[in-house]
Amino acid sequence: MCGIIGYVGSRPAEEILLAGLRRLEYRGYDSAGISLLADGEIQSVRAVGNLDRLEEALADGGGGVATLAPPATIGIGHTRWATHGRVSERNAHPHCDSAGRVHVVVNGIVENYMALRESLRADGAVFSSETDAEVIAHLIATMYADDLASTVVRALGELEGFFAFVAMSLDEPDVLVAARRECPLVVGRGDGESFVASAVPAFLAHTRSVQIVENGEVVVVRADGVEILDSAGVALEREVTRIDWDEETAEKGGYETFMLKEIHEQADALAETINDRTVRGDGVDLAEEGVFDESLLHGVTRVVFVACGTAYHAGLMGRYAIEEWAGLPVEVEIASEYRYRGPIVGPTDLVIGISQSGETADTLGAMRTARERGARVVALTNVMGSQATRDADGVLYTRAGLEIGVAATKTFVAQLALVYLLALRLAELRGTLAPERLAELVRALRRLPQLVEELLGGLEERIDRIAEWCWEAPFFLYIGRHAGVPIALEGALKLKEISYVSTDAYAAGEMKHGPIAMLDESTPVVAVATSSPVLAKVLNNIDEVRARGAKVIAVSTAGDATVAPHVEATIEVPASDPMLEPLLAVVPLQLLAYRIAMRRGLNPDQPRNLAKTVTVE
Ligand code: AGP
Repeated sequence: MCGIIGYVGSRPAEEILLAGLRRLEYRGYDSAGISLLADGEIQSVRAVGNLDRLEEALADGGGGVATLAPPATIGIGHTRWATHGRVSERNAHPHCDSAGRVHVVVNGIVENYMALRESLRADGAVFSSETDAEVIAHLIATMYADDLASTVVRALGELEGFFAFVAMSLDEPDVLVAARRECPLVVGRGDGESFVASAVPAFLAHTRSVQIVENGEVVVVRADGVEILDSAGVALEREVTRIDWDEETAEKGGYETFMLKEIHEQADALAETINDRTVRGDGVDLAEEGVFDESLLHGVTRVVFVACGTAYHAGLMGRYAIEEWAGLPVEVEIASEYRYRGPIVGPTDLVIGISQSGETADTLGAMRTARERGARVVALTNVMGSQATRDADGVLYTRAGLEIGVAATKTFVAQLALVYLLALRLAELRGTLAPERLAELVRALRRLPQLVEELLGGLEERIDRIAEWCWEAPFFLYIGRHAGVPIALEGALKLKEISYVSTDAYAAGEMKHGPIAMLDESTPVVAVATSSPVLAKVLNNIDEVRARGAKVIAVSTAGDATVAPHVEATIEVPASDPMLEPLLAVVPLQLLAYRIAMRRGLNPDQPRNLAKTVTVE
């Protein structure tokens, strides 16, 4: 996800911005840029690739842009993780208005950018990038009279979506104005200098005095002070907090591990993946210029998912959603098997390779096999420019940001969200859902980020109490039915990966056909028991395992009193649609695996024998 930084003070801004961007590299990026203001001029340098490329461009004079003399003491910087618009220099930030007077760096997505771009164009704005972010610079410039702060407050009222940005104007050379809606933003207070950034590490080398910017607020940043305004422009009191994190903790956003941080980033990952694809409200739009052409979905007679590990589980969820909503047959294939099996596949098949990294050798091999046999091939991935994106006819991007923990968490929920979106779009194109039902499901999808946020509040404590009694168990069994099956499989994989505890996962109906023989009093059984047409059957299966002495931990739906009497412990998730609740159910299972690993003294970020990206067969 993009990183943003702004500095105003008395030291050379260029160095401080570059060093700050280096501390934000862990967020992942594909291009970078800075804008500096001095002597009545703003100069901007951007480059594709890493920060070394940006430094080279700066040293070269940035293609005609010389280092400012005297050195600028105010500026903004950005690392871009592309979402709208290709990875290119002109799409890299900062962006500016047509006259180059207002420069902005933006993290997140402006959902109503198309409508804004049209109306700004009609007023004479000339756009130079394909990004949604550029509208912010034009909007501020168009609205500007004589005060940047109040202009940003008004501009914020016009913007829809979730984002954080920092703006700098030639007309007010000693102030930066930033704003935040959902995406992170934090202020650093130094001695005669101030910072604003996506995350604390960006300025930790200079100050540990921090002010948190809350949702919907605007912050006016000057060298000698900072003012925080609410969405009506009214000044707010905000305490300055002292951060005592070391640099490593700061990179983890204060969390003890990357995995825990990434579990807590899931609401963001979902919002980024879902929101602008559902702006119509009554349907889904997957089209992205030069990336995904919806004609790939026309005339499809079968969907085949090919994937490995966690991504395979996302494909399994896709099968339930697409078959139920779009009435299309779906196959889900383990990529390493599919590629060598001589699969029967052809031009009306849509083959989707799901891969967080986009570099998994077996998934790439399976996609290639399908392509050679004439199928349309789509990559569903988190990494722009990865091999899968180059091998496919179209790409559907999850927008989870860089995932560092080896165990996939936020990228999995983003994959689930995207397969749900695909299922709804196919249903819409095929007319298999009533318009009211489609709109209801779109609304339910849009609520997921908020539900995940609610769910995470206080969940860790509850999960840790459960982990306390079961962490030493040598074997765990996970069960579920219907859309709960992929979640049972994923919960078991998470525990296996990071705790090295033996696990098995089954469709609960399979219990009696073998696995029930494994159970005794020492076995914790984790059951996905969220609302579903087959919940009564899940409860029967739970009773069967309890009759063998096993202890059951169930993930159930808040407000459903039928599950608790059958189990030792329940973990409730907020109510949603029965097809979507399993996405919520995976969150406590990730945390359960996490707390067990921690109690076993293991480092969940680097499990033994595993690599984040498996580029060999
Ligand atoms: C998930 O926690 C694992 N790291 C692993 O199963 C992973 O999902 C699998 O290797 C596929 O990786 P990909 O999504 O990058 O293709």
